[in-house]
Amino acid sequence: MTQTEFASHQDHPIWWQRGVIYQIYPRSFQDSDGDGIGDLAGIMARLDYLVALGIDAVWISPIFPSPMADFGYDVANYCDIDPRFGTLETFDRLVAEVHRRGVRIILDYVPNHTSDQHPWFRESRASRASAKRDWYIWRSSKPDAAVPCNWLAEFGGSAWQWDDATQQYYYHAFLPQQPDLNWRNPAVRDAMLDVLRFWLDRGVDGFRVDAIHHLFENIELRDNPINPDWREGMSPARRLLRTHTIEQPEVHDAIAAMRRVADSYGPDRLLIGEAYLPIERLVAYYGSDLSGFHLPFNFHLIRTPWNPTAIFKLVESYEAQLPKGGWPNWVLGNHDRPRLASRIGKAQVRVAAMMLLTLRGTPTMYQGDEIGMADVPIPPERVRDPWEINVPGLGLGRDPERTPMQWDASRNAGFSSVEPWLPVAADYVETNVARQAADRRSVLSLYRDLIALRRREPALSIGDYEAVAATEHVLSYERRLDERRIRIILNMSGIAQQLSPQVGAKGRLLLSTLRDREGEDVDIRSLDPDEGVIVKLR
Ligand code: NOJ
Ligand code: MG
Repeated sequence: MTQTEFASHQDHPIWWQRGVIYQIYPRSFQDSDGDGIGDLAGIMARLDYLVALGIDAVWISPIFPSPMADFGYDVANYCDIDPRFGTLETFDRLVAEVHRRGVRIILDYVPNHTSDQHPWFRESRASRASAKRDWYIWRSSKPDAAVPCNWLAEFGGSAWQWDDATQQYYYHAFLPQQPDLNWRNPAVRDAMLDVLRFWLDRGVDGFRVDAIHHLFENIELRDNPINPDWREGMSPARRLLRTHTIEQPEVHDAIAAMRRVADSYGPDRLLIGEAYLPIERLVAYYGSDLSGFHLPFNFHLIRTPWNPTAIFKLVESYEAQLPKGGWPNWVLGNHDRPRLASRIGKAQVRVAAMMLLTLRGTPTMYQGDEIGMADVPIPPERVRDPWEINVPGLGLGRDPERTPMQWDASRNAGFSSVEPWLPVAADYVETNVARQAADRRSVLSLYRDLIALRRREPALSIGDYEAVAATEHVLSYERRLDERRIRIILNMSGIAQQLSPQVGAKGRLLLSTLRDREGEDVDIRSLDPDEGVIVKLR
């Protein structure tokens, strides 16, 4: 694909520029074999649900053999399927079934670290003379200090783990069971690029690349500076700034190498990068001349205060900082962050859905958000997330947003025939797919209709973004393509709002969160509490 083609997205959009991505957290999507853990056959059984929802691609969190210290983000073999999830044969069938339905499949790729049970690490730790010693980051302690330097692990404690057998430390950005690979070693890079080829050869359409900003660390192990803004109650890892442990310049070369592998399979393979970074630093991950990720995940809707002015400014600043030809994207939730419904309140979930599916940029949805699932309180004895176990009580644990998908009102919400690995939400009898599918005013029906509308009205996917206004409670913007102008007006409060003539809209009501008057000619001068509307202007 040439640069010009990429830039002319309105004439030749690529599937992911118009498409909607749906994240499946496989442990919690659908169990088919009665072990309380979701699996690939379970995903297969629910594909028609996803087709009815209208999404274009599924991204599946890690399904590779793993001791599950970090629930699959500790990979012990990049080129196989964990038996809990299925086999390579089930995976091939899944790819075929997904593709047969016109949907794409994106896998998780975890390049920063392996499991400590990966054969590469076992060999590396076997002796200082091991051929794979330099595949990981081994250091001796300084004579006067306990550890090689002050770096901290994201999930608590030092980032250096002592290895008794070989009397050295190894570096881990996350758990001690997740040793960091040494990407400065060309053999590591080659082996990891081969992993991409392995799955691309099996027909996958792209990857979501995990923790990419962690790929390199300062080679001299310089101490990280103290973070003056750290306060009691924040993650202990944030006591230090990550000056020397994230965003090292070498990362962009490595990403470009991943991109060349993806591109060699054709112009429609998608690379998404995971990095929680301020916008000005995030946009670097498109790479120079767009040689990096197609979509560096934009998590800012998760972190920005839920009010019109903050979001208005966020969109403006993101739009302004995108590189030329760089395609935007938006995310409202994932398996690492508190659920949308718990962050902004149930009443605003519909407004958020309307926003996600009408902003300019590829939307990524997280399983369960489409039925308004909320965080599930986890009793102490059921906590599974190592982060909560290591650093308890700070609200860092991720189990609440990883609980089983609520399919119906039957036992275990239709997720499993046995007690699931995490508790099912108490409200599953009311909040579930079966019930919402039958109710045209449900959150699920709204998502389905928003996705369908986005598909019908190209202005909503590939059109330009034009800000209209942000008042204390109302956010308004337009999407424009050729002569078509579609105005979105969102009441981000629980109080009815009168609209100024500048914000109000005359035209055809395409969709309303209240699900009334759709298709009618309207003159919108006020909004009900928590109401959002999409109006095609006359
Ligand atoms: C980001 C993943 O989304 C998260 O679940 C995981 O714990 C870390 N990266 C480490 O792989
Ligand atoms: Mg199972």
